[in-house]
Amino acid sequence: MSNTPQIRPVTGARYARIHGVGGYRPVRVIPNAEVLTWIDSSDEWIRTRSGIAERRWAGPEESVAEMSVQAAGKAIAQAGIDPARIGGVIVATVSHLKQTPAIATEIAERLGCGTAPAFDISAACAGFGYGLGLADGLVRGGNAEYVLVIGVERLSDLTDTSDRSTAFIFGDGAGAAIVGPSDTPGIGKVVWGSDGSQKDVISQTQAWDTAFAKEDAVNGAGERLTWPALRMEGQTVFRWAVWEMAKVAQQALDAAGITADQLGAFIPHQANMRITDAMIKALKLPASVPVARDITETGNTSAASIPLAMERMLESGEARSGDLALIIGFGAGLVYAAAVVTLP
Ligand SMILES: CC(C)(COP(=O)(O)OP(=O)(O)OC[C@H]1O[C@@H](n2cnc3c(N)ncnc32)[C@H](O)[C@@H]1OP(=O)(O)O)[C@@H](O)C(=O)NCCC(=O)NCCS
Repeated sequence: MSNTPQIRPVTGARYARIHGVGGYRPVRVIPNAEVLTWIDSSDEWIRTRSGIAERRWAGPEESVAEMSVQAAGKAIAQAGIDPARIGGVIVATVSHLKQTPAIATEIAERLGCGTAPAFDISAACAGFGYGLGLADGLVRGGNAEYVLVIGVERLSDLTDTSDRSTAFIFGDGAGAAIVGPSDTPGIGKVVWGSDGSQKDVISQTQAWDTAFAKEDAVNGAGERLTWPALRMEGQTVFRWAVWEMAKVAQQALDAAGITADQLGAFIPHQANMRITDAMIKALKLPASVPVARDITETGNTSAASIPLAMERMLESGEARSGDLALIIGFGAGLVYAAAVVTLP
């Protein structure tokens, strides 16, 4: 027998579930009419092509941290826990413009999460699902009792208002969830992945160092500095989302041992209403299953879109606590994450 001492095993909760969800929507509403002052388009085109009627854009006070604290406060209240019991703060975002430190540490401190480990992840519109997968593992692995997962974006900071193909799409906001121990399974297998061969189909126009190099050029040769923005090949993303993501959603259902007709809600990333409708068809989702259509008033808020839509469905009574929901996020990377979860 070896004399090597054995590490004490770590035991976590048998199962995990979402205990609370909360959202924050910025005060300022940007209706399509305002977008039409930036680009040559029409309210009808935007509504029929994307499903969006209006979006919220954050003001100077509605920072990534502020929106996160507001959303998380609601999730914590719904979970009914002391923030000191949160043993992990995961912030999914692509629009926190300061490279370091992670915005998660400030948020954890402001919420009273003690010395909880806090970090940011960059998984675009799959960010909430990625965070949920990590939180589920932390809780069941015994490395945290409760984990706070936040999806937050200020995509208005990265929107080129002169770009016809993206100016109408993006919105700002924050959504948060508390994941913690459960007596019964509350988070199914997270079916997640990436496809770096398509890294360029949605991306920032230029890296920050490139932008700053241009600023030097402004001082010298006079080349104009352009602020980095999000660009996407709309049709490529659309086709990928419609064909590939319905398969991923089905895998999440199969892995959870749930059929579409057993769902109490379908909460896909709010990317485009036509993508949602195509997925409903591909999944043969019965008309009786309520579907999140938050995009109409919120636009595409990337990592924040699923928890924001989840909160709205619960608040409006469209979905009920204890119902099973299929969630799926997908976006820049390309990345995706889907799972069946029990609603808090
Ligand atoms: C962005 C999107 C709505 C554009 O719709 P589309 O049908 O692909 O549009 P296209 O770029 O092919 O352009 C079609 C026509 O509309 C026109 N058009 C493009 N943008 C327009 C706008 N904002 N307003 C009015 N017309 C517009 C184009 O000029 C083109 O006209 P033409 O046929 O006369 O040449 C669509 O591609 C989409 O939703 N993609 C997925 C995006 C998404 O969900 N991203 C998030 C993933 S996280």
